Amino acid sequence: MSVTQTRTWRQVSACVRTHTAQGEGFRWLELEMPEGFETPVAGQFAQLLLPPPSPVLLPRPMSVASARRSRGRLLVGFLYAPVGTGTRALAALEPGAHVEVTGPLGRGYPLEEPGTPILVAGGRGVAPLLMAAEALSRARRRCEFVFGARTKALLVGVAGARLRLSRMGSRLHVATDDGSRGTQGTVIDVLERLAPGLEPPLVLHACGPHGMLAAVAEWAMARGARAHLAMESVMACGTGVCRGCPLPRSHAARDRVLAQGASANALQGNPEWAMCCTDGPVFESRELDWERVS
Ligand SMILES: Cc1cc2nc3c(=O)[nH]c(=O)nc-3n(C[C@H](O)[C@H](O)[C@H](O)COP(=O)(O)OP(=O)(O)OC[C@H]3O[C@@H](n4cnc5c(N)ncnc54)[C@H](O)[C@@H]3O)c2cc1C
Ligand code: FES
Repeated sequence: MSVTQTRTWRQVSACVRTHTAQGEGFRWLELEMPEGFETPVAGQFAQLLLPPPSPVLLPRPMSVASARRSRGRLLVGFLYAPVGTGTRALAALEPGAHVEVTGPLGRGYPLEEPGTPILVAGGRGVAPLLMAAEALSRARRRCEFVFGARTKALLVGVAGARLRLSRMGSRLHVATDDGSRGTQGTVIDVLERLAPGLEPPLVLHACGPHGMLAAVAEWAMARGARAHLAMESVMACGTGVCRGCPLPRSHAARDRVLAQGASANALQGNPEWAMCCTDGPVFESRELDWERVS
């Protein structure tokens, strides 16, 4: 892991282009970015700050769900659930309103890694992974796409996902805890069924609740597969300054960072704690201490 990083993010004022309800309890937001905002890659995120008067002081982190060009303009999409004060205020913004955006932030999925790609999504975690599937398709690679949720109502955008994936020659496998759609069980049950028929090495890219990510990490480590997991943490700055989004490193990751000459007081490259915003949000399963994450 490199200690120095090239800054590619910017703080800009973006204009709301589209803002609609999507599925049960989710919203789709598309922002038009000004010139100079770098095109995000799957797994990266942005910090969205509401215009004044805003009920929240700090910006809210959101994974990028799409990045496309229309008439020369960069449009960046987000799929989110209004769960609290900030996201509910965000949900009230009409097309034409402005939002302060810092991004693109963090490290995305290493989609160039060789192997059979399996994308594993839980609930709204589907958004960055559909973007990842499209990036793989542009590189002429198919994927297995595993989409799980508690119940079918939480499989946000599943019909569109099936259509987009089949156009790419990729396959969608659905699981719900209550059996209301697809396999009854979890994404791990689907992985167990799929894995024997796939060409090794397997490379997993996942996004979803931390419990699901921990299970995917454990499954991959037990089988010698690599898994890249998009983590979340409560964030303030999103840029590595406030040290407010720590995740515990594994022993192996700590030893490697120490061998690179980091000190316990180091900000960038701290041996004990990775910062979700700058070291992640995508981490390989062996980078984190999963017992302490949970
Ligand atoms: C890198 C990253 C990417 C994210 N991508 C998305 C996304 O694509 N779509 C989406 O809907 N949400 C995403 N989140 C979560 C989102 O940032 C939070 O839901 C949001 O900050 C809540 O703000 P609020 O003011 O509405 O809620 P608050 O009033 O601050 O809190 C309301 C509830 O939300 C919980 N909450 C707060 N922050 C988080 C968090 N980071 N993760 C989980 N729960 C949280 C609180 O514990 C509380 O229960 C992401 C978070 C991170 C760190
Ligand atoms: S949010 Fe400030 S260091 Fe990560």
